[in-house]
Amino acid sequence: MTKLIAPSILAADFGNLQRDIEMVNSSDADWFHIDIMDGVFVPNISFGMPVLKAISQHAKKTIDVHLMIVDPDRYIQTFADLGANVLTVHYEACTHLHRTIQAIKAAGMKAGVALNPHTPIAVLEDIIKDLDLVCIMSVNPGFGGQSFIENTYKKVSQLKHLIEFSESSCQIEIDGGVTDQNANALVEAGADVLVAGSFVFRSDDPTATIKNLKAIVN
Ligand code: DX5
Ligand code: ZN
Repeated sequence: MTKLIAPSILAADFGNLQRDIEMVNSSDADWFHIDIMDGVFVPNISFGMPVLKAISQHAKKTIDVHLMIVDPDRYIQTFADLGANVLTVHYEACTHLHRTIQAIKAAGMKAGVALNPHTPIAVLEDIIKDLDLVCIMSVNPGFGGQSFIENTYKKVSQLKHLIEFSESSCQIEIDGGVTDQNANALVEAGADVLVAGSFVFRSDDPTATIKNLKAIVN
């Protein structure tokens, strides 16, 4: 299956947001990755609903929303209404994860679960068949531009095995510190979707950087 590239809008130039969205639209990228942070689950606040609404008005590709917020159930319908196609919640933020996943699907979105770097893959054993996506955090969530955590490769392999063993159709997404130096190894380990923020938007030519990443993994 084709491997996907998801530029993280957190690293875009918010003063030129429409320009950066159009850049992604016309690039080889597959998804828009949108990071929503509440300053409680993670020690940072990114942006909220009005900004996502503006992004949705211009984005012509899949909108992949990564919620780094407590009690995400409160906003599932809101994110559906704002145009999210994939909605990912954190395992660590959901007491009733099964219920949350069902609610995301009932709202017409694909359902994802993100795992912090310290959270083992094994906690997903009894939910993996219900998931469309697992996002393995390869940095501690909250900020762009951090260094990739090497233990991620092991987790990707473990998750790939769990997905195959369970006959789940879930995709594996990697989020944090992705560059042209680790992209191929991540895909070799089993990744399907690579999120890249700083590496894309801090480069001299983001369109070419996306094209290059896409070529590396396919
Ligand atoms: C981190 C976010 C990431 C971030 C990735 O909490 O979830 O999506 O934007 O940024 P880079 O690619 O710069 O690590
Ligand atoms: Zn993210």
